[in-house]
Amino acid sequence: MVCEYGQAMALPVYILNGPNLNSLGLREPAVYGRYTLADIEATCRTTAEQIGLSVEFRQTNHEGVLVDWLHEADAQALGVVLNAGAYTHTSLALQDAVRAIAVPVVEVHLSNIAAREAIRHHSFISPFAAGVIFGLGPRGYLLALEALRAHAADTAE
Ligand code: DQA
Repeated sequence: MVCEYGQAMALPVYILNGPNLNSLGLREPAVYGRYTLADIEATCRTTAEQIGLSVEFRQTNHEGVLVDWLHEADAQALGVVLNAGAYTHTSLALQDAVRAIAVPVVEVHLSNIAAREAIRHHSFISPFAAGVIFGLGPRGYLLALEALRAHAADTAE
């Protein structure tokens, strides 16, 4: 119904960034590019506004904080864009958090993790994500926002 659809769209998309992503711009520019996390946040906000979404954009270097934010998102978000950084490849706790919540989680990575070291080929998140986008740089975040918007429209009654 229109009313429920409108209510869902009023919820923000949580864009959650994990460890070392605060160093974008300085960190391994050959891999991650020269843009900063603030640049990514700005483009996310612009895109979100264009497609009628709002965003809650956060970064932490702490695994448990990501777990807390995922739990929080379940009650308060339309969906989650999650770049868990290296915790992607190590964290059963993050997998459990993604499994525990009902809102869709789109996993995003700036780099093409399939083309990097073998340890980055495995993700604890992917099997339980609504979708996965990697290798497209900051554009991956924007595509994830569009996917979550479409998902919300599809699932609205
Ligand atoms: C990353 C890929 C991870 O393997 C890495 O540990 C990161 C960033 C990415 O966005 O490409 O910190 O998630």
